[in-house]
Order: sequence, then C-alpha cells, then structure tokens
Amino acid sequence: MREGPSFVTAAPSASRTVLVTGASSGIGQATARLFAERGARVFGTSRRALGDDGGVEMVQLDIRSEESVRQCVDRVLDRAGGIDVLVNNAGVMHEGFAEETALTDAQAVFDVNFFGTVRVTHAVLPGMRARRQGHVINVGSLAAWVGEPGEGLYAASKAALAR
Ligand SMILES: NC(=O)c1ccc[n+]([C@@H]2O[C@H](COP(=O)([O-])OP(=O)(O)OC[C@H]3O[C@@H](n4cnc5c(N)ncnc54)[C@H](OP(=O)(O)O)[C@@H]3O)[C@@H](O)[C@H]2O)c1
Repeated sequence: MREGPSFVTAAPSASRTVLVTGASSGIGQATARLFAERGARVFGTSRRALGDDGGVEMVQLDIRSEESVRQCVDRVLDRAGGIDVLVNNAGVMHEGFAEETALTDAQAVFDVNFFGTVRVTHAVLPGMRARRQGHVINVGSLAAWVGEPGEGLYAASKAALAR
C-alpha cells in the first residue's frame, strides 16, 4: 500500500486533532477512521445527529450554513483546544446536463462543494494561524481536470476548488 502523507502515517500522537467534514459515509468516514486508528483525536461531521463512530467524535455540521460551521468549529475548539488538520471532504455529486439544470440546482452544487469548503476553511484558519501550524486538505476530483458528459456542474465546482 502506498504511504500517505506524514501527518497520516506519523506515530500515534494524542496532541494531533483532525476535523473531517462529511464523515458519515464514503471517503470521509474511511479517512476519519484511518486518522483515529493512527492515534489522532478525530472529529467527524454529519448533517444528522449521529453517535460517535468508534474513535471518531461526531459533530453536527451543514457546510451551507455559516451558523452551523461556527457552532461546529467552536465545539471542536472547546473540546480539543485546536485543530491541526482540516479535511474538507463533504461534497455532493451532481448529474445532469448544464443546459437542463435549473440555476438554483447549479447554485446548490457550488454552495456545498465550493462555498461550503470556503466557509469551513475561513472558520478554521484563524486558529491555525494563531498557533502557526496546520494542514488543510481539500478533497478534489479528477472531474476537475477531465470532465465527463453530464457532470459539467460537478466538474466546475471541483475545478473552482482546485484553482
Ligand atoms: N466517490 C467518488 O468516486 C469520488 C471521486 C472523486 C471525488 N470525490 C469527492 O469525495 C468526497 C466524498 O465523496 P463520497 O463519494 O465519499 O461521498 P458520500 O459517501 O456521498 O459522502 C458525502 C459526505 O458529505 C456530507 N455532506 C453532504 N452534503 C453536506 C452538507 N451540506 N454539509 C455537510 N456535510 C455534507 C455527507 O454527510 P451527511 O449526509 O451525513 O450530512 C457525507 O458524509 C466529495 O467531496 C466528492 O466530491 C468522490
């Protein structure tokens, strides 16, 4: 198996705090569990109120809402004192040709995949700057570089993130 970045593979460290958005399923859940297995203190998020997932402490978060983002980040900071690694994973797929997609639906895709990521990053970065340390990982997509027919809006939202 390919080795991951040092902050994933590093020896267990109780001082490392990781926040993974969208950790209720898929890539986010697997990432959160991996960090927890490696000894980090891990907070995962879902829009639903979910119980803790093994070593992952679950916190409610809807990245479309500034209030929800603020509450989530405050909760993590209250409990852990700081965030060392932010994994911006929460995202939505969208299938449908741009021509046939209502503008409100197009905006909804960007509100999660692009602006949602910006909201969470805005809330976490000041703490990282104050502590002069931190990593921000944005989960992108190959679609940003090689768009498929019918995935144009999703690809555009991921391309915006990649720039
Ligand atoms: N799967 C792939 O093949 C693939 C390929 C390339 C990139 N990606 C990217 O990888 C990331 C995860 O994809 P996945 O396939 O693992 O997706 P997934 O299983 O559908 O999980 C998406 C996660 O995002 C959360 N989420 C959705 N809308 C949200 C919102 N408004 N606020 C907060 N959280 C929200 C969901 O949490 P709740 O529903 O519990 O709130 C869920 O935990 C996405 O950014 C996706 O674009 C996926």
